[in-house]
Amino acid sequence: MSAPGVLDITDLRIGLQANRSVELLHGVSIRLEPGERVGLVGESGSGKSLLSLSVMGLQPPAIDIRSGSIRVAGTEVIGSTEKQLDRLRGSTMAMIYQDPMSSLNPVRSVGKQIIEEIRAHRTVSRTLARRTAIDLLGSVGVRDPQHTVDNYPHEFSGGMRQRVMIAMAISCEPALLMADEPTTALDVTTQAKIMELLSNLVDQRGMSVIFVTHDIALASSFCSRIDVMRRGEIVESGATVTMMTGPRHPYTRALLGSICTFDTDPNQPLLAGPADTATPGGAR
Ligand SMILES: Nc1ncnc2c1ncn2[C@@H]1O[C@H](COP(=O)(O)OP(=O)(O)OP(=O)(O)O)[C@@H](O)[C@H]1O
Ligand SMILES: [Mg+2]
Repeated sequence: MSAPGVLDITDLRIGLQANRSVELLHGVSIRLEPGERVGLVGESGSGKSLLSLSVMGLQPPAIDIRSGSIRVAGTEVIGSTEKQLDRLRGSTMAMIYQDPMSSLNPVRSVGKQIIEEIRAHRTVSRTLARRTAIDLLGSVGVRDPQHTVDNYPHEFSGGMRQRVMIAMAISCEPALLMADEPTTALDVTTQAKIMELLSNLVDQRGMSVIFVTHDIALASSFCSRIDVMRRGEIVESGATVTMMTGPRHPYTRALLGSICTFDTDPNQPLLAGPADTATPGGAR
């Protein structure tokens, strides 16, 4: 048997508890090696968040994990108790969400939240955890961290809040980072800065990343491999260079066809997506 990857998802099937006939993920398999960055790309509703949340053991209660396996650094997530999951979350795996405002507590200072996260996983004094929080905020580019550590989430801009979320996610140096559309809510300039920050942090700390996005161009700039997801299935998986230059699946071609570049012929219509290019019979 091969050594466990940082993440091994095998033939994962997920459905709705209330309806046996509804299946949302149809046998998804993903393996992530140490230090690898994989882009999970697909349209809205394809199952990207469901997959990411399931890895963290945070799938919504209406969801039923029917079969398959999710192993994080060799530990099975499916069927783990909350206590076991808490040990994995933060220390081995962490997640950055699309909307930092809904994942930060609005009535606690960001410093307190980072300190809590650190102390939930490490036996360190409050003073040392606070110093670590200040260092972390500095390392993610939050200005004047000695003072802003005591600010509340609403006192930060959207980009700065996302930096705070990143600081919290990396606070216990997880091996696996799940980033679910971490920059979608941000303007393009802030998006570029956050992506650069993420890239540097991931390299410095040797983390493995699942980067979830509907933007294949963004995924290609950050990831060495791309898994294309559609309707609850991975329809194509491969090295970024190969996929960007020779996509095999019609859906991947449609995603690439909808990228707008400055050398696009203005007389050619933009492809709207899979509906324009779907093969007869509806290839997945
Ligand atoms: N709590 C829930 N109850 C029932 N169905 C759900 C729930 N959450 C997600 N789903 C369904 O699961 C499928 C996948 O949703 P998911 O949120 O994973 O998509 P996504 O790829 O992340 O989309 P987006 O790009 O819009 O974030 C959709 O059909 C959605 O309706
Ligand atoms: Mg989503």
